[in-house]
Amino acid sequence: MTGPISGSSEEKYTHGHHASVVAAHAVRRASEAAAFVLPQLKSPMRLLDFGCGPGTITVDLAEHLLPDGSVLGIDNSEAVIEQARTNASSKSLNNLEFETNSVYETGYEADSFDAAYAHQVLQHLSEPVKALKEVQRVLKPGGICAVREVDWGASALFPPDERLEKFLDVYYKVAERNGGDAHAGRRVKQWFTEAGFSNLQVTTSTWTFSDETGLKWWGEQWAERILRSDLAKRAVEYGIATEAELAEISQGWLDWVQAEGAFFAFMQVEVVGTK
Ligand SMILES: C[S@@+](CC[C@H](N)C(=O)[O-])C[C@H]1O[C@@H](n2cnc3c(N)ncnc32)[C@H](O)[C@@H]1O
Repeated sequence: MTGPISGSSEEKYTHGHHASVVAAHAVRRASEAAAFVLPQLKSPMRLLDFGCGPGTITVDLAEHLLPDGSVLGIDNSEAVIEQARTNASSKSLNNLEFETNSVYETGYEADSFDAAYAHQVLQHLSEPVKALKEVQRVLKPGGICAVREVDWGASALFPPDERLEKFLDVYYKVAERNGGDAHAGRRVKQWFTEAGFSNLQVTTSTWTFSDETGLKWWGEQWAERILRSDLAKRAVEYGIATEAELAEISQGWLDWVQAEGAFFAFMQVEVVGTK
């Protein structure tokens, strides 16, 4: 028996699960990340959160679906599922479960979920349509799938800094080499169509980092991730950047936090489709 199923054999999750990555994901809340679909999620729905990572959004979704709804969070990383279970344990929710599983081939019964949700997952998959087709298989007729993906190409950064332009270049190249797509946001609607979903609702929202707390949080996490996460390891392994260049990028992020007028925003694309 092999591990959880991936897309192409080249597919690799760009960020990996270094502590700096998981900590950045663990601050996410459904009130922001799932705001576009929360009004459509109601008790007693059964929801699948695929690529749930450390599960903070998943916990919120389970609370949202009380008293009779339930949530299953899956991720193909056993390590992050363990962290999700730990994060959720203080809430003692009896309508929430986590499993290590791949969205490409879940093995769940057809027509068994009312809703599915994913936040920042399809962009890392080499076969996003295949994943969406599997989600569609496990949804009941009339069930909904809701996805939110960033589009790094729709980002605005100030002040200009060659080191941060290099960061974007490194990110695009590593994501592509890993089988993912850093411009996923603009393609999600098409992927839903190809997977056979109908009644598509498409919205956008933005992440904006402009005040002192936001700048520090965004800049400092990337200063660390570009040195220590899988993004850094792969950039060096693929010959996309040297360790010295990554160190310069890291310092670029730290300088940006202190720069006069510092600002960063990018677009999130949200799609809800019906089976
Ligand atoms: C950027 S993280 C997002 C985590 C979470 N949804 C959030 O927004 O906080 C992407 C997650 O997708 C998971 N993932 C990648 N490929 C997967 C697959 N084939 N099946 C299930 N999860 C997968 C990764 O392990 C990672 O935890």
